[in-house]
Amino acid sequence: MNKIVRKIEKQHNLSLEELVLLIGNDCYDKDLFEAADRVRQKYVGDGVHLRGLIEFSNVCSRSCFYCGLRCENRNVNRYSLGADEIISLAGRAKELGYKTVVLQSGESSVYSVDKMVYILREIKKFDLAITLSIGEKSYEEYKQFKNAGADRFLLRIETTDTAIYKALHPDMDFSNRVKCLRNLKKLGYEVGTGCLIGLPSQTPLSLARDLLFFREIGADMIGLGPFIPNPDTPLSLERGGTFEMARKVMALVRLLMPDINIPATTAMETLSPDGRILALQSGANVVMPNVTDFVHKKYYNLYPGKSGADVPAAFAKRALEEKIEKIGRFVSEDFGFRKKNI
Ligand code: 5AD
Repeated sequence: MNKIVRKIEKQHNLSLEELVLLIGNDCYDKDLFEAADRVRQKYVGDGVHLRGLIEFSNVCSRSCFYCGLRCENRNVNRYSLGADEIISLAGRAKELGYKTVVLQSGESSVYSVDKMVYILREIKKFDLAITLSIGEKSYEEYKQFKNAGADRFLLRIETTDTAIYKALHPDMDFSNRVKCLRNLKKLGYEVGTGCLIGLPSQTPLSLARDLLFFREIGADMIGLGPFIPNPDTPLSLERGGTFEMARKVMALVRLLMPDINIPATTAMETLSPDGRILALQSGANVVMPNVTDFVHKKYYNLYPGKSGADVPAAFAKRALEEKIEKIGRFVSEDFGFRKKNI
């Protein structure tokens, strides 16, 4: 095995230059995937945590250049589920055996703080862990959601390359996004962040800096996905990211941050048949199956061909469990909080 791969497996640390080398050359890939799988086994074990994803509104006031939900996109049927519909989907997730629900939406003010607090309090009665993924909010709002029962928060930084960030998010401020992540940490959330792989102009250096940022911010979860060009966006003609590059950056995350939670993302499954299983064998230990109802999930069009959009939730869960068991892993019975182990 290569010396640098051995070093990162043992020390969980590399310089920026070493990371750039690993990212920029595919000759290390196989060794990295295997090393990440060993480190995953050693630090977080064979359990796979399933989180039921509820995409409760696709209304968005942002203009992110890569995302199909951007407010300028008129080819989307916009929906916002009522509080009782969201609560009932969470109840259904509980019945299916989930221990966590992830409430995700576009970034908007459709739901007042009071309404979100009501939804969180009601869902908490099911004894579920709750992850929110609803974008940038004020410290005070994050605090109210935490007090109402939210346990975790997902807010991808998307890229730490500030030139790319600015070009793709014209109405947003990179430093505010970082501030949001720090506020979430301060409030005691388990914090998930992550980035897109294969954005236009992104280099191995940008990705290496993303990796060091994840560690610096103290992330508890990292979700990575290949960028998949959406025809209804300004980036429709771009090439997009590859499954292998996303898999490699994910393996590096596991090697640098051995005890965190890492999802095998839907975007990875979309680009490669059995992409999630390969991801689970290259560092990942979480899967977030979609439990949104049939009518609505087809309108949550972040990118084309989103995997799982046409499969009923109960069926998809069973099929996934079988695949997990087939590779010698098991579905975890606990809430799947990060157990600090380093
Ligand atoms: N391809 C892949 N992932 C995307 N996301 C948004 N648009 C795309 C796309 N075209 C991701 C963003 C966001 C998450 C919810 O979906 O990283 O944080």
